[in-house]
Amino acid sequence: MGGSGWGSLRYIKRFANFGKNYYNYQTQAKSRVSPTDSTTHSIQPTTQPTTMFTTAFLERDATAGNQVPDNLYEAIAALKEELNAVILAHYYQESEIQDIADYIGDSLELSRRAASTDADVIVFAGVHFMAETAKILNPDKLVLLPDFNAGCSLADTCPPDAFAQFKAAHPDHLVISYINCSAAIKAMSDIICTSSNAVKIVSQIPQDQPIIFAPDRNLGRYVMEQTGRDLVLWQGSCIVHENFSEKKIVQLKIQHPEAEIIAHPECEPPVLRHANYVGSTSALLKYAQASSSSTFIIVTEPGIIHQMSKQANDKTFIPAPPTSNCACNECPYMRLNTLEKLYFCMKNRSPEITLPEDIRMAAWRPIQRMLEMSA
Ligand code: 13P
Ligand code: SF4
Repeated sequence: MGGSGWGSLRYIKRFANFGKNYYNYQTQAKSRVSPTDSTTHSIQPTTQPTTMFTTAFLERDATAGNQVPDNLYEAIAALKEELNAVILAHYYQESEIQDIADYIGDSLELSRRAASTDADVIVFAGVHFMAETAKILNPDKLVLLPDFNAGCSLADTCPPDAFAQFKAAHPDHLVISYINCSAAIKAMSDIICTSSNAVKIVSQIPQDQPIIFAPDRNLGRYVMEQTGRDLVLWQGSCIVHENFSEKKIVQLKIQHPEAEIIAHPECEPPVLRHANYVGSTSALLKYAQASSSSTFIIVTEPGIIHQMSKQANDKTFIPAPPTSNCACNECPYMRLNTLEKLYFCMKNRSPEITLPEDIRMAAWRPIQRMLEMSA
């Protein structure tokens, strides 16, 4: 380990002051609003959002008091040119946003796009940690998020103060954090990973190096299974992926015996047990295209089905049902972004993502390591 410096004490010590900086900053910041406050979804985040860094927080609805143009598509295209902006969208965004985006991708692909863009402005149609990652990689660019309340339940399960204590209790451990976490958690991490490279990254760490894996316990368990490594897991999870019903998925499979079940690794082990294939959103999309099967049960946020249907329109994609009859297989955070809010964030140059420079720098290193290790 010493040669690579990943888990060195020097590196761990460098971040000992982060907790302090984070709290100072946080006391100035207001809490974001839970998406359940402004939508009809019945699920609740496990904790209140903690990923709060921006100074450009809008308390009002981003579209309030603003005139929606007759042709939103043309208006967005005009603003894109005026700002020299690039629009990056995650697969869980509503179809209209995916259709207007310059690039659609999973977290890793969007991070790579953010790292390589020569646009002046990045409009990130995704959730806060994704836009924050783009800002970490592009300190001099304006990074906009259509709805500032678009957080992530998984990121919120890992508050920096508690994580700092957890890390302190495992002083010899290397910290590998899933990208679904706040900049403060990234700043306390040695390497970031996404669902598409977690196995690859963990496999590159020497066998005798103990590892903390945070914040998603389900992805962590999946990586343990795939690599045979013993990881110390932070017990975080995603409200969307934990909500898929194993029973209803099995019933669907009985109705459609020809269907392949494809699932995101944020799902719980009993659900993943039934999957023919497990992968990131992009990996699921590629698998569905390449497979000779004609029917798939999709065990992740159903926003991805828009691209699946576009790229393989002769195939059938069945969204896996959640445990109750709510729409809670849709991510309530991702779905806060709308085409109107995307237009207004470009028009108003707000909400903007901003970060204290020391935290940004510390969070940049583990992201950079991820990009190098997964190249
Ligand atoms: P991907 O990296 O697979 O796009 O997943 C991101 C995410 O938030 C899944 O819930
Ligand atoms: Fe976060 Fe889950 Fe939404 Fe992904 S689906 S952004 S992990 S809340």
